[in-house]
Amino acid sequence: MRTMDELGDVAGFYAHFAEHEAKGESATFAQWAAGVAQDPEVLALLGQLPTAKRQPNLVFAAARWHGAVTPSRYDDVGGLRDVLLTRWPRVRETILARATQTNEVGRSASLLPLLCGLPGPLALVEVGASAGLCLHPDRWSYRYLDDGGAEVARIDPVGGPSPVVLDCTITGPVPIPPSPPVVVHRGGVDLNPLDLAADDNAAWLETLVWPEHEDRRQRLSAACEQVADVAVDVLAGDLRTSLDEAIGRARTAAPGATVVVFHTAVIAYLDEGGRRDWPQVVTAALERVRADGGAAHWISNEGSDVLPGVSATARCAESERATFCLALDGQAVAWAHGHGRRLEWC
Ligand SMILES: C[S@@+](CC[C@H](N)C(=O)[O-])C[C@H]1O[C@@H](n2cnc3c(N)ncnc32)[C@H](O)[C@@H]1O
Repeated sequence: MRTMDELGDVAGFYAHFAEHEAKGESATFAQWAAGVAQDPEVLALLGQLPTAKRQPNLVFAAARWHGAVTPSRYDDVGGLRDVLLTRWPRVRETILARATQTNEVGRSASLLPLLCGLPGPLALVEVGASAGLCLHPDRWSYRYLDDGGAEVARIDPVGGPSPVVLDCTITGPVPIPPSPPVVVHRGGVDLNPLDLAADDNAAWLETLVWPEHEDRRQRLSAACEQVADVAVDVLAGDLRTSLDEAIGRARTAAPGATVVVFHTAVIAYLDEGGRRDWPQVVTAALERVRADGGAAHWISNEGSDVLPGVSATARCAESERATFCLALDGQAVAWAHGHGRRLEWC
């Protein structure tokens, strides 16, 4: 996952996205992104947008919101080019009004082994929570598989199997937990927390799921239904300035619980200075909890380029199929697939 400030070079960003992010994951998006990268007319439109708004996931979702057909090729009638050129004012309005807040419940399969290794009960503080689906790791069923697809372990919620089953292929000594974690607080912060009960937020989240990922779309919809009645305490704000408040709320709501600050696919949205400073910001916040007698940990699950200092601590090499670095308290422990389909433990 590249960082958003690389979007100054729109053509280069789309070419990289086609080759390194979409290829093998979405034939439509790989084709669309490669098409954009070579299309001066469309590049000129995207160049009018604020830099952070030029990202493929947002532009493609907005085009689909306004009728771009999937699957399709770049220059099909009703495909990306057609919709961008003929419906640009409406697509642009959606791009400006909305954000890529893809909430991927599958990432819980990457987080689970670390969450379960911490002393519970847990007070979860997710920064960049979107609709908060990753705040419910105790609500999903997990199937950990070997490379041949055979089930190595299955973990179900205490009350029995969930309709949301997360499959994750594992390699290396993944510490598979016997049971889900005990969660006593679900909170955090997001620039724009999404209330799934309101407006058309769930529909937008479904539009953000890549076209060929029908299994993810179905899972998202089932997950939203599962947790619609579970309260979460996600503040609206910037993660850098609202972190202490979110931690404070967790400690008040669940005194004695282990505070776990975590994030997945979020830090790439910060500018260079924000990304550089984030490890110190979060570490200092956790030190304050510890100095006050509390237990606190930090779990990060971000693209390998996003927190280079953390990725550099990995004791095994990143693979093509697992490009997110999973770390506990700044120490990398595994490489994970961006949507939680694969976990390679070091
Ligand atoms: C790609 S989504 C990931 C959502 C969720 N963590 C997941 O893995 O499914 C990124 C989220 O980070 C939020 N975000 C981006 N920059 C932020 C900031 N500076 N402060 C708080 N939230 C931010 C966005 O609003 C969005 O909901």
